[in-house]
Amino acid sequence: MPERAAPHPTNHARLIAWVEDMVRLCQPDRVHWADGSDAEWRRLTDEMVEAGTFIRLNEEKRPNSFLCRSDPRDVARVEDRTFICSTNKKDAGPTNNWADPREMKTKMTGLFEGCMRGRTMYVIPFSMGPLGSNISQIGVEITDSAYVVVNMRIMTRMGKAVLDVLGEDGDFVPCLHSVGHPLEPGAADVAWPCDPENTYIVHFPEERTIWSYGSGYGGNALLGKKCFALRIASVMARDEGWLAEHMLILGVETPKGDKTYVAAAFPSACGKTNFAMMVPPEGFEGWKLLTVGDDIAWIKPGKDGVLRAINPEAGFFGVAPGTSDRTNPNAMKTLYANCIYTNVALTDDGDVWWEGMTKEPPAHLVDWKGQDWTPDCGRLAAHPNSRFTAPASQCPTIDPEWENPAGVPISAFLFGGRMSKATPLVYQAFNWSHGVYCAATMGSEATAAAVGQAAMRRDPMAMLPFCGYNMADYFAHWLDVGRRLPNPPRIFRVNWFRRDETGKFIWPGFGENMRVLRWVVDRIHGRTAPVESPLGWMPRFEDIYWKGIDFPRDLYYELMTVDRVEGTEEAHDHERLFDRFFDRLPKEFIFERELLRSRLWRSPEHWGLNPER
Ligand code: GTP
Ligand code: SPV
Ligand code: MN
Repeated sequence: MPERAAPHPTNHARLIAWVEDMVRLCQPDRVHWADGSDAEWRRLTDEMVEAGTFIRLNEEKRPNSFLCRSDPRDVARVEDRTFICSTNKKDAGPTNNWADPREMKTKMTGLFEGCMRGRTMYVIPFSMGPLGSNISQIGVEITDSAYVVVNMRIMTRMGKAVLDVLGEDGDFVPCLHSVGHPLEPGAADVAWPCDPENTYIVHFPEERTIWSYGSGYGGNALLGKKCFALRIASVMARDEGWLAEHMLILGVETPKGDKTYVAAAFPSACGKTNFAMMVPPEGFEGWKLLTVGDDIAWIKPGKDGVLRAINPEAGFFGVAPGTSDRTNPNAMKTLYANCIYTNVALTDDGDVWWEGMTKEPPAHLVDWKGQDWTPDCGRLAAHPNSRFTAPASQCPTIDPEWENPAGVPISAFLFGGRMSKATPLVYQAFNWSHGVYCAATMGSEATAAAVGQAAMRRDPMAMLPFCGYNMADYFAHWLDVGRRLPNPPRIFRVNWFRRDETGKFIWPGFGENMRVLRWVVDRIHGRTAPVESPLGWMPRFEDIYWKGIDFPRDLYYELMTVDRVEGTEEAHDHERLFDRFFDRLPKEFIFERELLRSRLWRSPEHWGLNPER
């Protein structure tokens, strides 16, 4: 019999009842309530090292850090296995997978039945947002994965302190997770149990409940992140008048000491972590950038009409490949200790490596699948979606305000996809509704696709895989939030990813993005006057601060302009996105598209960007 007699560390009757129900359903051998202590971390990491799930890294190079290799079939979020099970199919909308909640529950109850046999059930109380803040929300994840427990300890505020805040009748979102690999008596475990054939990531938005089965990786399993803080929270936000967004939060301090906060939405693997920790380039002495968050923002209007944002997370679950001392030195410094690395390569001296970390790869590695690797073997050493899990508090640029329960005031929103053509480096929307239109029509190219023929998909507000309800209603909600603010944040579109005919990125990116951010801050404070292009307000070459870089004027115009035919095709293509939403699409969008089309009659040489032409 399971050790169910062990006293629960809470008097919360509804929580205890739910846990006991789940024990009956999942039939674990043991139940462990995670307390979030150091001792618990040590015990679980030791056990995982013992079991072969974790490899302890070199204590001198990466103290208290671990490498984990997942099953090669379980390496990323699975969008086609992710469901929004609202009662009414229309409430999930055309961009989400939908299933009838009752049918899905029946099917998944079958899967969960006995799924934790031979395993420990962990109960993880966690807070998204600083403990006790009135913007924060509490969840409880039940899981049979120790990997999830230790990751949740970095990514959220977790354990005993959360039970104290929850009290005897506080609200929580129940999150049920299993890797879907019960152990029959005497059966040997595997290093990364999972069930790819039966993976389901399911949300019941009306009940505010999450059921996830079959995957142990990232957003599929760390349920506080995408499932709760985006899909379920977006529904809460719609109902309560706030925003739950796939955004980084960043503070910019000028040499004079005034501070401006912006939030930026880029799709997955499109540079949020980089931008959130950016180092200003040469020529920006005295400027400071401060990190509040790198992936998710919860944003609420205050009584004063100002939008205030918190980062609901406590850690970074960042893309490893491409992270280096050159591209993101602050991330590299954050990784000095106390981190978990999933699916990166192991060096011969017990350190980690991934593509792009150093110019020259090491002569020998063990790759993410555990096989010997040499530079000429023709395989990637780290999986392209390999990740680090790192405490946000270790980031050298973490903002002193990052845990302020009241949040930080947001002055601008930036939206940017990965677009190799037809999207300028930067422009500002004319007003809020035009800005919401620009954000909703954002496109982004598949990261691994070939240059020039990359498949582009519309990813409205970088929320396509993360909105827990009908996206047309989500657009209307955005319009509504702005309508209620006396002075809504300014909205900008950016694109670091434009390429030339040879396929090379035109814009140097990374720290140099600071030049664009500086113009954004200047615009927010009315310190610079823009040019009115068909797409929006734009900086002239002279309006960008160029000290420290020799960037050719001609190349700048190439980056900033869009050919009339291309622009019109793009505007036309917005229709295809809108057609999917039928009658629910906000009327504003129809008018915005027509205005854009008519403005596009003006070809780039008449935009007024280049006085020399
Ligand atoms: P998720 O955690 O998946 O939501 O993604 P993210 O938006 O935080 O992605 P991240 O910052 O980890 O982006 C990683 C990829 O973007 C890497 O391949 C980087 O090299 C690339 N990247 C980031 N910033 C820039 C830039 O300014 N220019 C270019 N060309 N690439 C960039
Ligand atoms: C993303 O895919 O946008 C991520 C990684 O941030 S995961 O948490 O796995 O969804
Ligand atoms: Mn993300």
